[in-house]
Amino acid sequence: MDMAKILSLMFGFVSLHVVILLAQPIPGFISIDSGVTNEYTDTYNRIYYETDTGYADTGTNWQVSSDNFGDGFDARSKNMRIFPNGTRNCYTLRPQNGKGNKYLIRASFSYGNYDNRSSPPAFDIHIDVNSWLTYSGSRYFCQEVIYILQRDYVQVCLINTGNGVPFISAVELRLLDNGIYPFESGALVREDRYAMGSSRSIRYPDDPFDRIWYKLLPEDFQAATNTTAIEIDPNNNPYKVPTAVLKTAAVSNVLRSFNLSRPSNSMDGWHFYLYFAEIQLLQQNQTREFSVYIDNMFNTTENLEYSTLTTIPSGLLTGQTIVGFNLTSTARSTLSPIINAFETYKVLELPNSMTYPGDVEAIYNIRTTYGLAKTKESWQGDPCSPVQYKWSGLTCSDDSAPRIVSINLTSSGLTGPIAPALANLTSLQSLDLSNNQLMESVPDFLAQMPSLKILNLGGNNLNGLVPLDLMKKAADGMLLLSIEGNPNLCNSSYCKSTGEPSERRLGFVVPLVTSVSGVIVVVSLVTIAAVTWSRARERRDESSPSMLKTFTPTEIEGITNNFKMIIGEGAFGKVYLGRLDGGAEVAVKVLSQMSRQGHKEFQAEVKLLAVVHHRNLVSLVGYCDDPKSLVLVYEYMSNGNVRDHLLRHEMPVLSWLQRLQIAVGAAQGLEYLHSGCKPPIIHRDLKPANILLDNNMQAKIADFGLSRAFRTDYDSHVSTNPAGTPGYVDPEYESTGNFNQKSDIYSFGVILFELITGQPALLKEGHRVTHIVRRVTPLIERGDIESIIDPRLQGKFRIASAWKVVEVALSCVPTAAVQRPDMGLVLSELKECMAQEISSLHGQRRGAGNQCNSIEMSSLDPSEMSPDSR
Ligand SMILES: *[C@@H]1O[C@H](CO)[C@@H](O)[C@H](O)[C@H]1NC(C)=O
Ligand SMILES: *[C@@H]1O[C@H](CO)[C@@H](O)[C@H](O)[C@H]1NC(C)=O
Ligand SMILES: *[C@@H]1O[C@H](CO)[C@@H](O)[C@H](O)[C@H]1NC(C)=O
Ligand SMILES: *[C@@H]1O[C@H](CO)[C@@H](O)[C@H](O)[C@H]1NC(C)=O
Ligand SMILES: *[C@@H]1O[C@H](CO)[C@@H](O)[C@H](O)[C@H]1NC(C)=O
Ligand SMILES: *[C@@H]1O[C@H](CO)[C@@H](O)[C@H](O)[C@H]1NC(C)=O
Ligand SMILES: *[C@@H]1O[C@H](CO)[C@@H](O)[C@H](O)[C@H]1NC(C)=O
Ligand SMILES: *[C@@H]1O[C@H](CO)[C@@H](O)[C@H](O)[C@H]1NC(C)=O
Ligand SMILES: *[C@@H]1O[C@H](CO)[C@@H](O)[C@H](O)[C@H]1NC(C)=O
Ligand SMILES: *[C@@H]1O[C@H](CO)[C@@H](O)[C@H](O)[C@H]1NC(C)=O
Repeated sequence: MDMAKILSLMFGFVSLHVVILLAQPIPGFISIDSGVTNEYTDTYNRIYYETDTGYADTGTNWQVSSDNFGDGFDARSKNMRIFPNGTRNCYTLRPQNGKGNKYLIRASFSYGNYDNRSSPPAFDIHIDVNSWLTYSGSRYFCQEVIYILQRDYVQVCLINTGNGVPFISAVELRLLDNGIYPFESGALVREDRYAMGSSRSIRYPDDPFDRIWYKLLPEDFQAATNTTAIEIDPNNNPYKVPTAVLKTAAVSNVLRSFNLSRPSNSMDGWHFYLYFAEIQLLQQNQTREFSVYIDNMFNTTENLEYSTLTTIPSGLLTGQTIVGFNLTSTARSTLSPIINAFETYKVLELPNSMTYPGDVEAIYNIRTTYGLAKTKESWQGDPCSPVQYKWSGLTCSDDSAPRIVSINLTSSGLTGPIAPALANLTSLQSLDLSNNQLMESVPDFLAQMPSLKILNLGGNNLNGLVPLDLMKKAADGMLLLSIEGNPNLCNSSYCKSTGEPSERRLGFVVPLVTSVSGVIVVVSLVTIAAVTWSRARERRDESSPSMLKTFTPTEIEGITNNFKMIIGEGAFGKVYLGRLDGGAEVAVKVLSQMSRQGHKEFQAEVKLLAVVHHRNLVSLVGYCDDPKSLVLVYEYMSNGNVRDHLLRHEMPVLSWLQRLQIAVGAAQGLEYLHSGCKPPIIHRDLKPANILLDNNMQAKIADFGLSRAFRTDYDSHVSTNPAGTPGYVDPEYESTGNFNQKSDIYSFGVILFELITGQPALLKEGHRVTHIVRRVTPLIERGDIESIIDPRLQGKFRIASAWKVVEVALSCVPTAAVQRPDMGLVLSELKECMAQEISSLHGQRRGAGNQCNSIEMSSLDPSEMSPDSR
């Protein structure tokens, strides 16, 4: 038993509360009371009405003043949605049974002088992309169409024709059986639907399709009613005309024919449906027999049987100036003709076709991505059709299903990344996204769009590398590409970060390091006496001790608890954990015999190191200058060194943001050594093991300056080896012996690669030792960033950000030192990268907070509304 029957059975004798409990959306129905603030179940027709939230994304709700509630005002008439802005505004309905299903769609308009102008507006209503009807000036107006859904959604659009603000009171959608009301093409607009002789209008729950049967009893006709319910055989009731409709009829009170005619435009097609059922038990000597003429053509002679329905569909009637039907009694009939119900429909031609479905889906997706439903008045309804209402900035083909061939969204306030849905616009020839705030990288799919010939991405905030395929298409003259005005975008020919052609950057020679057993040796001798530390003094960190402590060997024994705990072992000696009297932990570096030099130099160097203070440099706390033990006492870095974090798998994984922070911290320290100190301090042995992390995971560089101060070149057995640690040594230094800031830049680039990949600089694969730059370069050239990034990050990084760091790292490692940027540039690139990372995290959080909104917004779109949400 269906819901309609249950409800109709219960209607008379069940309390309202029970009915309300049962009330719920009726399968196959969508019922929207436009402008109402809360959903409700109508007490009279038992239909559950929704608000228009989620169905229309423009317009505003409005109430009719209660002064204007007329007789028979129903709940739908008390409020409306008005559309003061834009030419076309639409309701989008996405029923469960979509494309190919036949629906009765009803739109209701009840003016109610809502605007106090006492003058109703006039406007057009479209069903999808075709004109359906015109509203003009009726107090109450309701129109129905029988329509086969062309898509999984249907749009009811109000068109402002310049004669006032369009409004609508209700939109209702009713799923019909596909077999009823057959028609060849177009749709059927209901002209008449009458329950003859009825004392009331009949609809749901009597009518399972919620057709509204208006009561009609023409002049000179009599109502015939059988109050005892007659039984109509459901198998003989193809259009499911309700018994409530059939149990009344109209008969003429004199013995003559009925004649109901319809004026018609010659071009219109018509369908009539006539319903006859004998409701009176006839006497032996009584006969009711009549001929049915439709369109003045004899159709059939009916001798009706009691309680049996005869349905006469006219079929398509065309080309007549007047159409109608009449019923004429035959000669032997003793009774007048009877008619229980009839419907007439006018054929609605649907000349305009909807935009190609894939394009609609994609453009609605893009509309949602950039929130354009709110900012572009014309972006409502079908994107291309009808032509006069197509979306602004779009050009469409005139295919049978129009395709979107160009999109111009210049200066449209777009923010965020380039929408991936653009990829599905396969006929797109021209795309102008210039002068917006588009971010992140230029997606690869743009190069794969088969028809794209013009692409303007200029004046945005895109970053990363322009896909090589896109550059190639542009170079081959197959694409007109504009990308200027994106300060952080690298067009693969030139990148701002280095000012060097990328071919050279990508094609550099990777130093082939064959020995991993090297020991640190310093070659160049620098005259310490000439050093001035002007800027270093300026930048001195006030919180750091300005005076170095001096320790005696005994004190050193004391603070290290007799050298109890070794926390590291560097090139210059072992490092012990110590604790000062105040309780502060320190790292105590005891210089090995091998690395010692004269006291004078040691003291001079220590004093100079004492004034180099920067939050990204490990501070020297004090020293012990004794002939027997040269000791340096540093602040203790509780989180150890970056090398251990990267390579020791028992350590927690450094997140991408932490890695960026480490890179920026180390870059700041190094930049200070290079530019903040005069003369510059060259670290010479930069590597992850020399980047330490304090308890806040702040990176600080250690061991700077040591390689100069504590020369080991008189240790003959190692003096021929290059300075620094294998894997980090500047290849140009190896060939020229020339050590300068750019040598540190090279090492820094290698460190960046280690942060990116989580792999060591040198990796032994079989008998070969490969260098990190050599390992990653082919992958970078292939654009295969995912396989470069440390898998321990489990994909938790932004590609754009990773590309940026890869780009910076690459810029640091050309063989020719002159091609490497200086630390200031490296630092600013990394800082920017981190700023974007942080703002994107904020953005994500903002986005998450807005998720409800964006779900709501997207649910307005046919492309995204889930059919089973309704
Ligand atoms: C109509 O447009 C105006 C101006 O753009 C705007 O302030 C108003 O909110 C819009 N009204 C509706 C119902 O969208
Ligand atoms: C129309 O008049 C009624 C009172 O008579 C008032 O409440 C309502 O706001 C007015 N509507 C408009 C659109 O001015
Ligand atoms: C019935 O309709 C025809 C047209 O179909 C018209 O000529 C005729 O006058 C009508 N007769 C009556 C009685 O209304
Ligand atoms: C109404 O129908 C019942 C049977 O369903 C029948 O007995 C009765 O005579 C009918 N009434 C009239 C006025 O024909
Ligand atoms: C039909 O028969 C009844 C009696 O059964 C009678 O009263 C009536 O006048 C007859 N009607 C006609 C048209 O003959
Ligand atoms: C009813 O239609 C037929 C066929 O067109 C016609 O001959 C007849 O005159 C019509 N009856 C009336 C009363 O108009
Ligand atoms: C006559 O009626 C039948 C149904 O009884 C229908 O199929 C047919 O199309 C009708 N013919 C005309 C000419 O209206
Ligand atoms: C997009 O529109 C702007 C101005 O409306 C125009 O200057 C520009 O040329 C258009 N872009 C394309 C690709 O046609
Ligand atoms: C492209 O269209 C297909 C098919 O409708 C869909 O599955 C896919 O998600 C779309 N891609 C994008 C990026 O929107
Ligand atoms: C790439 O950028 C450089 C420097 O900004 C510029 O000279 C060159 O024309 C650009 N190439 C393309 C194809 O836009």
